[in-house]
Amino acid sequence: MSVRISPSILAADFVNLERDISRISNADLVHVDIMDNHFVSNLTFGLQMTERIQQVSTVPLDVHLMIDNPERWAPEYADLGAFAVTFHAEAAVDPVALARALRAQGTRAGVAVKPGTPIGPYLELLEEFDLVLVMTVEPGFGGQSFMDETMPKLRQLRELVDKRGLDVWLEVDGGIDERTIEIAAAAGADTFVAGSAVYRGADPSLRVTELRERALA
Ligand code: DX5
Ligand code: ZN
Repeated sequence: MSVRISPSILAADFVNLERDISRISNADLVHVDIMDNHFVSNLTFGLQMTERIQQVSTVPLDVHLMIDNPERWAPEYADLGAFAVTFHAEAAVDPVALARALRAQGTRAGVAVKPGTPIGPYLELLEEFDLVLVMTVEPGFGGQSFMDETMPKLRQLRELVDKRGLDVWLEVDGGIDERTIEIAAAAGADTFVAGSAVYRGADPSLRVTELRERALA
C-alpha cells in the first residue's frame, strides 16, 4: 500500500510560507487549512493566499475547508488548481452534489468528518468521493492530542474501500506524530496530515521521511 504525507502549513511560519513549503518538497501533498471563524472558532486565510501558495508550491495542494457554506467556496479552490479539495460533511447541504461538482472541475473531492460525526451515512456513498478525512482532533487548532476513539471509523472505511476495490484515500488529521501515525496506519489510513510533528525542530523534510517510514512499518 502506498502512503502519503501531507504536512500542514498551519504549523509553518506564516510570514515565511514559501520558505517553509520549500522545506517539505519531499512530501506528497501540502495541507492547507482554511478556517473561517464560524465553522471553527479559529481563522486562517482564504482564496487569495491559497492562490499564491499554489503558484509557489512544487507539491500539490491538499485543501481542507473548515468553513460554513462550502458550496460557495469549494469550487473556487478547485478552480485555482488545488489537487484535492475537502469540505466538512457537517457544513455541506448536499455533500454528494458538492463532490460531483468538484469532480466535474477535475479536482479530487474529499469529505471530512469531525470526531463526533458518524461515518455511517457515507459508507454507502463512498464512490462519490476521492478522499475521506477522518478528523483525529476537533478541528480548529494545531498541536492537539490524537483521539484514539476515532479509529473504529477508519477501520470501517478501510474494510469497505478494500472490499469494493475503490480508489478512495483515507486521510487522518490532528495529533499525528511518529507514534500515532502507526496507530492510524494500522487502522487503515493511507494519507497523513501532520503539522507540529513536521514543523517543530530544524529539519521538516527529515520529519516527512521519518513519518513515511513509520507509516509503512
Ligand atoms: C486542525 C487542522 C490540522 C492541523 C493539524 O484543525 O485541520 O490540519 O494543522 O495540526 P497537528 O498536526 O499539529 O495536530
Ligand atoms: Zn487540516
